[in-house]
Amino acid sequence: MIYLDNAATSWPKPDSVPAAMERFLREHGANPGRSGHALSIQAGRVVYDARERVARLLGHGDPLSVVFTKNATEALNLALQGLLQPGDQVITSTMEHNSVLRPLRFLEGRGVEVSRLPCGADGSLDPADVARSISTRTRLVVLSHASNVVGTLCPIAEIGRLTADREILFCVDAAQSAGAVPIDMASLGVDLLAFTGHKSLYGPQGTGGLCIGERAKGRLRPLLHGGTGSASDADVQPEFLPDCFEAGTLNAVGLAGLAAGLEFVEGRGLGAIRAHAATLTARLLDGLRGIPRVRVLGTGEAARQTAVVSFNLDGWSCSEVAQALEERAGVCCRAGLHCAPLAHRQLGTFPEGAVRFSLGLFNTETEIATALGALRELAVRPKGDLS
Ligand SMILES: Cc1ncc(COP(=O)(O)O)c(C=O)c1O
Repeated sequence: MIYLDNAATSWPKPDSVPAAMERFLREHGANPGRSGHALSIQAGRVVYDARERVARLLGHGDPLSVVFTKNATEALNLALQGLLQPGDQVITSTMEHNSVLRPLRFLEGRGVEVSRLPCGADGSLDPADVARSISTRTRLVVLSHASNVVGTLCPIAEIGRLTADREILFCVDAAQSAGAVPIDMASLGVDLLAFTGHKSLYGPQGTGGLCIGERAKGRLRPLLHGGTGSASDADVQPEFLPDCFEAGTLNAVGLAGLAAGLEFVEGRGLGAIRAHAATLTARLLDGLRGIPRVRVLGTGEAARQTAVVSFNLDGWSCSEVAQALEERAGVCCRAGLHCAPLAHRQLGTFPEGAVRFSLGLFNTETEIATALGALRELAVRPKGDLS
């Protein structure tokens, strides 16, 4: 089996991840931050270790303003619903995932003005378009750092410079980039950064969070109200971080796994991770270009994207290609719209979608060669011949 669906969730996980989760459950699986006994304190240390590792990896100075959520979607909802008010303008792009598009559509129905900037045919956004869209009512710019359809990287440093000296916050959806691309939140001018634990951070599903920068502190309303184990005498949500946004028992066992995933990423080093991804992506792009009737979407340049490559094979639907690749070569990939309908409209592949290969640290050049070989075999058949 060749797993090329790492943009949906990374697999396999490093052995240390399930080991840390098992250790947590067996040795100190108490409720963190609730009780004063040794097990609860140990569980709290595990969670704090995860906070520190997230903060360090993402260039975010303050571990206590890393708020854990169950995924990037919840973190983005916290940022968007927590901040935007009727009458505000928010600037976004057509390359966004539904976890940005849908909350913004919901907020639009409540009087928020949403400016959706078109991107180029390769999925790239021009910062000049962002600058031109800024008005006196702009409260937020929200963009994905890397497209989950074509991997195209967004020029977040340039956009961060546009928002940094104005009363505009900048929120980055780093679901596809945290752990894959170096990120230094402070120097990039990012105020809110949503991440997910189960993709390039190699943690388990059910983990993610929002890093809240200095300029955004005190400006978000919580999505959830409830017990935090702190300030229990008050019947209102505490205002301090991270408790303000972490009502209810955390997924501590998941966070134990996330900490192990982060340790693994730190151990490999982002330079080596990015180099491995770039080598495999370049190999994949080269191979795809040599196959007749294949149309590759996106930048076509490994240096300008993450290890996410989408394509179509003329004469075949994307789901037929994905099914044939799995049946013939055990390739697991994802076909369709990838929760990003506007991106596919922009790329000219709506409503059918495309086949997406997304690579991870455990993929090898041999696997890429096998997947390409299987695709080549399909491509030489007469159009639509599924036999
Ligand atoms: C760009 C992007 N944003 C947000 C998400 C949502 O992540 P999660 O499923 O962890 O909420 C994804 C997931 O695929 C994504 O690719």
